[in-house]
Amino acid sequence: MAIIAPSLLAADFLELGKACSMLNASEAEWFHLDVMDGVFVPNISYGIPIIEQIKKTTNKEMDVHLMIVQPEKYIAAFKQAGATILTVHYEACPHLHSTIQQIKAEGMKAGVALNPHTPIDVLKDLIFEIDVVCIMSVNPGFGGQKFIAHTYEKVKALKQLIVQHNASTLIEIDGGVTLENAAKLVAAGADVLVAGTTVFKATDPIQMIASLRNC
Ligand code: DX5
Ligand code: ZN
Repeated sequence: MAIIAPSLLAADFLELGKACSMLNASEAEWFHLDVMDGVFVPNISYGIPIIEQIKKTTNKEMDVHLMIVQPEKYIAAFKQAGATILTVHYEACPHLHSTIQQIKAEGMKAGVALNPHTPIDVLKDLIFEIDVVCIMSVNPGFGGQKFIAHTYEKVKALKQLIVQHNASTLIEIDGGVTLENAAKLVAAGADVLVAGTTVFKATDPIQMIASLRNC
């Protein structure tokens, strides 16, 4: 059984309220919210005011994925907007340990995302401090991309690192998740599956969430 975190990036933004109601009625446990700044990634999505509105609709986990440079500047602002899990990119944080401590000090769970080219090993000295590791299975910036198959190896390596350190870190997979790869990802050790296109372009998104969850 996986935790499903639908990415609202793939929702119809003119019908965002309906998308939130659908997710609230579904078995999805987390809302996944992608924030892009046009600098760390070559795309701009949405930010704090939208997240504030989404938060008003739900009691589920607000899993905010920051694809921005200098994320440490906005930790308190995202807490105030309603984030319950705040994920920063390893590649954007020269003082990652300190950034994680700041996220936790604000009362949020701390996530670290790794780009496809970043090896798992870079987290070995702080894995026990991290609540969620988000393995990017596409290059961040856009929804609807093809899943990178090397991800399975990374999930296994990360699972080993977590077990070695007796840590309780969750493994989240982000990008190109479908019904075809979900079961294999969970078998490799994934705990949380982010799904944008697969959920929001499905004819029955609620059923799709249930199928992914029970994959
Ligand atoms: C990509 C984002 C993802 C994206 C996933 O940069 O981090 O969360 O919304 O979308 P799909 O599931 O369509 O690949
Ligand atoms: Zn994401």
